[in-house]
Amino acid sequence: MALSEQYQDLLAQIDPAKMPRHIAVIMDGNGRWAKARNLPRTAGHKAGAEALRRTVEICREIELPVLSVYAFSTENWLRPLEEVRFLMRLFIEYLHNEVALMNRQQIRLGFLGDKDGLPPAVRGALDEAQAATAANKRMLLNIAVNYGGRDELTRAVRKIAAAAAQGGVVPAEISEQLIGDYLDTAHEADPDLIIRPSGELRISNFLLWQGAYAELYFTQTLWPDFTKRDLLTALLDYQGRRRRFGQTQEQISKD
Ligand code: IPE
Ligand code: IPE
Ligand code: MG
Repeated sequence: MALSEQYQDLLAQIDPAKMPRHIAVIMDGNGRWAKARNLPRTAGHKAGAEALRRTVEICREIELPVLSVYAFSTENWLRPLEEVRFLMRLFIEYLHNEVALMNRQQIRLGFLGDKDGLPPAVRGALDEAQAATAANKRMLLNIAVNYGGRDELTRAVRKIAAAAAQGGVVPAEISEQLIGDYLDTAHEADPDLIIRPSGELRISNFLLWQGAYAELYFTQTLWPDFTKRDLLTALLDYQGRRRRFGQTQEQISKD
């Protein structure tokens, strides 16, 4: 293994008492990675799929319970049709290739986004991969495709309104907990850490509700270059943060 790929030194620094329950990643920078190499953008997306494989592996290794990755946003449909088509094909290919490994590693596949808006072939591949990994218990890997935080909230509001119209939900009883139960992440822990590579300092419509108190980690590294070391570096940075959730530091330290 090349020296740059070794990460035992970082693993040794992890504080098991401060492990996040959920890490979310905005997989950005594929296009710029390809451009820097005079390659088509599609080559960047392919390399991005490799980065995802590495990230899943290291997250499984540190026994992270939930990893969510942003693969395609509701806004990404605005891209050139050829790129969109390539991404959809890549997504299907990734699912086909990864199911066996996910089963070996006891990883269950989850989905965030509007499935109804996906091409039938993507939907089929997703349903298949989800069914094939449904019994796995060690880690949940959520892939966000055709996902937008505002779209997710809109769909949730529609469902809540429909339930209210049927008498199943009483308006006065609508709570944060109930809203959370109608989101794509229903009954999952909120992300503790959101990682965005590629130097962009924005959330781009990812996990708007769930990320209310997430620690944010930005890095210049482009997603296809993201290594296991990068994931562990972000995790160690997270472990050094002081999460106050609105309280004073004195209150937190007393506990
Ligand atoms: C992320 O990389 C992949 C998707 C959004 C599908 P980009 O394709 O956005 O890469 P950049 O931002 O152009 O470098
Ligand atoms: C965010 O990346 C979406 C995904 C990584 C899937 P974008 O490249 O689409 O985000 P913007 O357009 O730069 O905000
Ligand atoms: Mg981008």
